Amino acid sequence: MKVSVIGGSGYIGLVTGIGLASLGISVICADINISKIQGLNEDRLPIHEEGLSPLLAKAKRKKKIVFTTSLSSAIKQSNIIFIAVGTPLSPNGEADMSQVLSALRTIAEHMETPKTIVIKSTVPVGTHKLAHEIIKKHLKNKNLTYDLVSNPEFLREGSAVKDFLSPDRIVIGSDSKKAIKRLECLYKTFSVPKVITDPTSAEMIKYACNAYLATRLSFINEMSEICEKMDASILNVIEGMKYDKRIGGHYLNPGPGFGGPCLNKDLQSLIRFSTSHGANTEMLQSVITRNNRQIDRIIEYIIHNLKSKSFPSNPKITILGLSFKANTNDTRNSPTLKLLQSLKKINVKISVYDPVVKKLPDTLSTLVHHASNPYSAVENSSLCILMTEWDEFKSMDLQSIYNLMAQPHILDTRNILSHEMANQIGFYYKATGCKESTPNEIFENSNMPVIPRSYRKVM
Ligand code: UGA
Repeated sequence: MKVSVIGGSGYIGLVTGIGLASLGISVICADINISKIQGLNEDRLPIHEEGLSPLLAKAKRKKKIVFTTSLSSAIKQSNIIFIAVGTPLSPNGEADMSQVLSALRTIAEHMETPKTIVIKSTVPVGTHKLAHEIIKKHLKNKNLTYDLVSNPEFLREGSAVKDFLSPDRIVIGSDSKKAIKRLECLYKTFSVPKVITDPTSAEMIKYACNAYLATRLSFINEMSEICEKMDASILNVIEGMKYDKRIGGHYLNPGPGFGGPCLNKDLQSLIRFSTSHGANTEMLQSVITRNNRQIDRIIEYIIHNLKSKSFPSNPKITILGLSFKANTNDTRNSPTLKLLQSLKKINVKISVYDPVVKKLPDTLSTLVHHASNPYSAVENSSLCILMTEWDEFKSMDLQSIYNLMAQPHILDTRNILSHEMANQIGFYYKATGCKESTPNEIFENSNMPVIPRSYRKVM
């Protein structure tokens, strides 16, 4: 069994390719991106993903993986071909299918023996029908058979290797019994439920999962806002919710809104093709509206403080975390980038720090100072906004942060710091879904021995 992965240098293609190779399967990762393939041939990974580097080294040592820009040779040499190319959002809200369609055409044009073609890219429901048409058209008069499978992925950036090696389930959607058997055999190492279904339902499962996750996040983010208004703590509320077996505690952390290349894109695409088929998607639309509100709320908080507290006229604001979540260098659709975009309109100096992202898009890079660590980032700052949940931020020396800031004020959008610790040191501390605490208030309401530093006015 030889597998090729088209889009093999992208996030999903690469993790899938290296993951399959680590199971002892011979894999060819093919991609038209010359620089990424060249990098991979020289052992340079284009993504920051925990555990991927040692897995790649092992696969290379065992000669189970090769990287190439020649799609045609990869197609000819393999009997199972994964399509794992991107389906980014086009301006009209539809998934841009050009890369998938091009991959299907290329496969049909270059195949010389029967193939099992596996679509891993997230594609609008019904795409397999279009895929059959394209393959048949481009096979021309070649008398060759093929099978088509929809095999959606559920990898999360930042834990993609772990997710690949211990999946919750594997979804295989096909009209071909032979292809289903072949995929079951490919994934035989994993003793997890294999959901065997029709291709339309398989395509839909992927959208339903991402839409559910996004809905859960918008739900908890909305609960956070309500908690703030009612003087409740979202953390205590979650504590009381999570033991309910029907609810559970996963995927319930409030924050600056979901980002990344998938949830928002898939929701938009789901809404688009569902409404065009006459379905009502009112609830899904409100999930997006709520998500956008999370950044607006941060901006409102900043503006409120600029007006009502003793901020200098052109204060420095520090933003910690640029990637859309921790443990990845991916900034696609990152809440921080959206925040920076909005901050362009406000007269503030901005310094940023991220453990792995060291470059911003040109439109934003001129706006910010890129610090080399969190401590230099907060120097003389009047507000520190924590945007991603990197471990490095969780274990910062808060006393040093306090000493370095012009005004000891933290907005913790992810609830990653110890509220008690921040309070004891004397920060003005605001976390999503929790009441803001001010040093005086804390001092009056507790027996803590620490005398909070006064809210220093910066001239
Ligand atoms: C998501 C899905 O979780 C994967 O199952 C799916 O395979 C992937 O999309 C995809 O379609 O390719 P991913 O976007 O990598 O994975 O990351 P998530 O961990 O789902 O996080 C998405 C966003 O939600 C991030 O901005 C994250 O910070 C945010 N989030 C997540 C929260 O704000 N709170 C949480 O409790 C969890």
